[in-house]
Amino acid sequence: MDAFCVRGPVRLSGELDVAGAKNSALKLLAAALLAPGTSVVRNVPAIADMRAMRDVISHLGAAVTIRGDQYRIEVPDDLGHETPAHLVRSLRASICVLGPVLARTGRVHLAQPGGCNLGHRGIDMHLAGLEAMGAHVRVLDEAVEAECDQLVGADIELPFASVGATENLLMAAVMARGTTTIANAAREPEIADLATFLRAMGAEITGAGTDTITVRGVPELGPTDHAVVGDRILGGTFAAAAAVTGGDVIVHGVDPAHLRLPLAKLRAAGAEVTESDDAIAVRAGQLRATDLVTLPYPGFPTDLQPQFMLLLSQARGSSLVTENVFDGRLAVTAELQRMGADLEVSGHHVVVRGSSPLRGAQVRATDLRAGAALVLAGLVAQGETVVTDPWHVDRGYADLAADLRQLGADVRRTHVQAVGAA
Ligand code: EPU
Repeated sequence: MDAFCVRGPVRLSGELDVAGAKNSALKLLAAALLAPGTSVVRNVPAIADMRAMRDVISHLGAAVTIRGDQYRIEVPDDLGHETPAHLVRSLRASICVLGPVLARTGRVHLAQPGGCNLGHRGIDMHLAGLEAMGAHVRVLDEAVEAECDQLVGADIELPFASVGATENLLMAAVMARGTTTIANAAREPEIADLATFLRAMGAEITGAGTDTITVRGVPELGPTDHAVVGDRILGGTFAAAAAVTGGDVIVHGVDPAHLRLPLAKLRAAGAEVTESDDAIAVRAGQLRATDLVTLPYPGFPTDLQPQFMLLLSQARGSSLVTENVFDGRLAVTAELQRMGADLEVSGHHVVVRGSSPLRGAQVRATDLRAGAALVLAGLVAQGETVVTDPWHVDRGYADLAADLRQLGADVRRTHVQAVGAA
């Protein structure tokens, strides 16, 4: 079986560039479908999820050429409207074609994204918003279908600031007749990036990045050329890695303003953090306890919670970590416990008692960010750590082992004999 093999402990030091944000780039590929012609998306990360998204939009009729970190997307006048199960299952984020395909073709048939390893992930807000804009939505066992003659502007208030629902409704609204407002909209930097892309295509959008987005529909959009915003979650992962290994690391390519709370938490935990325009320098200090609560942006990101939980497991004192976004995101605790972390889970809270020494063990990546946290745990642990199911990590990190080696770590991506195998 494939795995990351990590030998610790190590103190990371050096500099690293991070790629564009997965959670923006995926949506920009979907947004490109809104205009016939050739759009170019730059600074695209070389990760498995992007290749899956390329397959989704290719299936819908786009011709995609990849050169380095640049995707050239030729969108035909006649777009397909069906996305089959095998593509949607391998990439839950393909749900984001719902809005643009409906806006372009007046109908869409998307295989049900189904469950995932982060627990329950509903799409009710996506569907209710599209219905408010005049679409007829049918939820079948195996698929979701929507149809409309013409989407019409509507006032939509989301019950929760969902990233995916905000993006889908924004992409549906740009060519709707009239004005749409999305209240309690998600405010993530990736949403502001999507709005910048759409505006460059000719869309009329105000308020993206705040909790109320207003969109005045236009009859048609044109193609554009855009570089994806830097990946704040990659930046935060390496910043946590520096702090937990007692290291000294500079991360380039990410706007520190997008990591306000994680950087404040790093400082509260004892690290010295210096910010410049598109770089963050982290120098470790004596780690101490601090509490974390995940919330939609600008709250603490759920996508950094496992990496910071590891960090706090190595801090002096007890911290409380609260996960509010995904019920499955605490599965990582059982794996960290196998390595010696002192964690007590109660509902969606974890009491993290520092600082118990970690030891190398065989552990399993339960999801993308859990996998990254376990690789970082291997940097701290004495001996060898084997992290299985590394494909989760490949979904969001182009080559985590190579990045960490660049900072001095002993991490390999290898094939290991399964425990119990002949
Ligand atoms: N939710 C509903 N109904 C909906 C939509 C969402 O109940 O119609 C619930 C979900 O079940 C979840 C919560 O709302 O409990 C948050 O979901 P949200 O829609 O905000 O998240 P998402 O769009 O599914 C994106 C990222 C995630 C990231 C979250 C939160 C992409 C492709 N995914 O997911 O990224 O954790 O926002 O910031 O953009 C990752 O990169 O590891 C990852 C999981």
